[in-house]
Amino acid sequence: MYFDLSEEHRMIQKAARDFAQQELKPGVIHRDSTMTYPAEQVKRMGELGFLGMMVDPKYGGGGMDTLSYVLVMEELSKVDNSCSVVVSVNNSLVTWGLEQYGNEDQKERYLRQLASGQTIGAFCLSEPEAGSDATSQRTTAEDMGDYYLLNGTKNWITNGGTAGVYLVMAQTRADAGPRGINCLIVERGMPGFDIGAKEDKLGIRASDTHTLLFSDVKVPKANRIGDDGFGFKFAMKTLGGGRIGIAAQALGIAAGAFELATEYAKQRRAFGTEIANHQAIQFKLADMATQIEAARLLVYKAAWLKDNGLDYTSASSMAKLFASEVAMRTTVEAVQVHGGYGYVKEYHVERLMRDAKITQIYEGTSEVQRMVISRGALA
Ligand code: CAA
Repeated sequence: MYFDLSEEHRMIQKAARDFAQQELKPGVIHRDSTMTYPAEQVKRMGELGFLGMMVDPKYGGGGMDTLSYVLVMEELSKVDNSCSVVVSVNNSLVTWGLEQYGNEDQKERYLRQLASGQTIGAFCLSEPEAGSDATSQRTTAEDMGDYYLLNGTKNWITNGGTAGVYLVMAQTRADAGPRGINCLIVERGMPGFDIGAKEDKLGIRASDTHTLLFSDVKVPKANRIGDDGFGFKFAMKTLGGGRIGIAAQALGIAAGAFELATEYAKQRRAFGTEIANHQAIQFKLADMATQIEAARLLVYKAAWLKDNGLDYTSASSMAKLFASEVAMRTTVEAVQVHGGYGYVKEYHVERLMRDAKITQIYEGTSEVQRMVISRGALA
């Protein structure tokens, strides 16, 4: 076992840290309060290669490993989770899925532009009546010969209003259950495809979350990923890696809140000394540090399993389950360390506390992660 990062991983980590601290931090409070999508910042992340990190360079990607992606997610998420969620979705749910399961034509037409950040992607599984219960898809993709007729509604879609390429799960044969679901590549602007209003959220407020409406959208058969009925497996496989990305986001939120709390504790004075000298604060910091380190080990281990071609289904769910709980606990404690200052926007921790909550919900709630982990344990 070797627990240290390589020189190359350290460089990637530093590049992401510098970018987050220098370019994301200055405007993050404003974007959060005004729900302004970080268009400029997403463009910069594309230039820095953060949007197609694991894609083969022959399709314009960075050819990096999952650990590199995790390190970038961690650093960005210390500061701006409306940006890091774009990185997570584009890398894990869209480009990874297309590269693994798409055909050559689909890779040429879509992967190349997504890997460079020229276009961003969205992953469309959740529906008004199918969230955790993802096999109950109501959106239909009727087989019309050389195309599918797509009808239905998708909810909570990250990058919903800004993406150019949408991977949409839809039911073709209801009697076949999950084996009747297909994943179709839908382009923005296809007739019958409409984008609903942006959601006004508790956290990750600048990210672009929308309802999507499909009404008789004709999607060519050439845009189906994999064989007929592969869509649910595609979604599950893709989410397995996605959960590592969200686990890294949760880790970054916790680590970011910890950095803010320690800095604050070293300069804030009360009862005649810096509050860092009070044991009540020291114990909080010690618990935070311990939990963050445990979360980090789970997240890096899941990335390592994936990079080594080993099964990471349970590991990614464990990492997400634990890291998201640590993110929640740590941010609440970081606000407490800041006292009244923690409750105002200027000090950044209240935003991280609000952002933390979504990591227990999207890409599978904590309850879904427990289902995945217990199935693995009982198999
Ligand atoms: N890999 C491959 N196949 C899998 C799989 C996996 N990890 N998990 C399930 N499957 C297959 C099963 O083998 C089964 O196929 P067969 O019938 O051929 O055997 C089929 O899928 C159905 O599986 P289950 O019977 O296990 O399905 P289930 O109804 O019990 O649900 C679940 C399983 C784990 C709860 C799943 O529905 C799930 O993960 N739900 C949560 C969905 C989710 O994470 N949504 C997030 C949306 S994306 C998002 O949030 C993005 C964002 O905005 C940032």
